[in-house]
Amino acid sequence: MRDSRTTAPDWPIVGVVGARGVVGSAFCSILADAGLPAENLRAFGSGEGASLTFAGADVRVGVLDERAASELDLLFLAVDGPQSREIMAGPGASVPLVVDNSSAFRLADDVPLVVPEANAHAAREHHGNLIANPNCTTAAAVVVLAPIRDAAGLASVDLASYQAVSGAGRAGLDAFAAERGTDDRDRAADSPFHGRIADSVVPQIDVLGDDGWTGEERKIHAELRKILEMPDLDVAATAVRVPVHTGHSLALHIRTVRETSVEQLEAALRAAPGLEYRRADGSERHPMPLDVEGRDPVIVGRLRAIPGRERGFAVWLSSDNLRKGAALNAIQVAAVADPSRFAMLVPPPR
Ligand SMILES: NC(=O)c1ccc[n+]([C@@H]2O[C@H](COP(=O)([O-])OP(=O)(O)OC[C@H]3O[C@@H](n4cnc5c(N)ncnc54)[C@H](OP(=O)(O)O)[C@@H]3O)[C@@H](O)[C@H]2O)c1
Repeated sequence: MRDSRTTAPDWPIVGVVGARGVVGSAFCSILADAGLPAENLRAFGSGEGASLTFAGADVRVGVLDERAASELDLLFLAVDGPQSREIMAGPGASVPLVVDNSSAFRLADDVPLVVPEANAHAAREHHGNLIANPNCTTAAAVVVLAPIRDAAGLASVDLASYQAVSGAGRAGLDAFAAERGTDDRDRAADSPFHGRIADSVVPQIDVLGDDGWTGEERKIHAELRKILEMPDLDVAATAVRVPVHTGHSLALHIRTVRETSVEQLEAALRAAPGLEYRRADGSERHPMPLDVEGRDPVIVGRLRAIPGRERGFAVWLSSDNLRKGAALNAIQVAAVADPSRFAMLVPPPR
């Protein structure tokens, strides 16, 4: 087991809370790819005693307290909102920079919500020690919408999401595996989904509000507006869970403000960071979840004009919800916020 007191001096000391969870595991994998020495990783969870393997070494999982926090240069939170709130009211307050993956602080006025491809300046200009990472679906959409916003303006965005079960964490993966092992159509008892997901799709993610919109759809609505810095953007989202292990996909139907063309939008998307563009004419494979799992770029394709709709365009994307949708974006956010200390944590693109 590692002695947590020894560190490699040129590397920051990086903490991950929820390190054994689905997003936490993606953090560890990306940080290992970047070359972070195991002695500079501090892994935290809900209790003491467990361990994980990082870059071939055993790393002990502990509980984050004031003493452990005092060692850290950077902390990633990969836990649910209530735990993030508790940590930020306690040991997290003293860490120089914290990037939170939960929804707890995303809409707080004094907390930046950042996807570097769209609003890197918000990370650079942050004043407190906390930056929020968006919802996985929002992050993917922003990478495609930001260059369209810049090229032709955005008048409206309608989207339908096709979200993988790993978006619901370990419990989601376990429920999916259990359901796939049985033909019992009523089996959804221990599931975080609102109905059986194996062999089906579920048109509800998160709680259903009195107005008929779900929590996930509200998050997409509000977070897109905040990150794109368009507080009045006309957005409507239908968020759907699909029986896919990892990789969220989205159908986006947009209207631009200014006259443009498929060719101009294609050029804007091809030039945009964080994207891989695929031709829509069938000469290249359309983006699919299996293409993005374990990869960094949001893969975008099926760009086309909507017949009869002025300045209307449709586009399709797939993105790894655990990487760009969570851990990778958070690490990129830290790199933008303090490049001299944290840019080294972003590995070469995969
Ligand atoms: N999954 C995605 O695609 C995705 C994308 C974007 C954002 N997010 C957000 O990322 C966060 C983590 O999601 P996940 O999918 O990784 O969930 P997960 O697989 O269920 O993992 C949650 C982790 O939280 C840890 N935990 C629970 N209570 C804790 C406590 N009191 N103190 C410290 N750690 C505690 C658990 O640690 P132990 O293992 O030690 O019990 C577990 O490893 C959530 O806020 C989620 O909304 C998820």
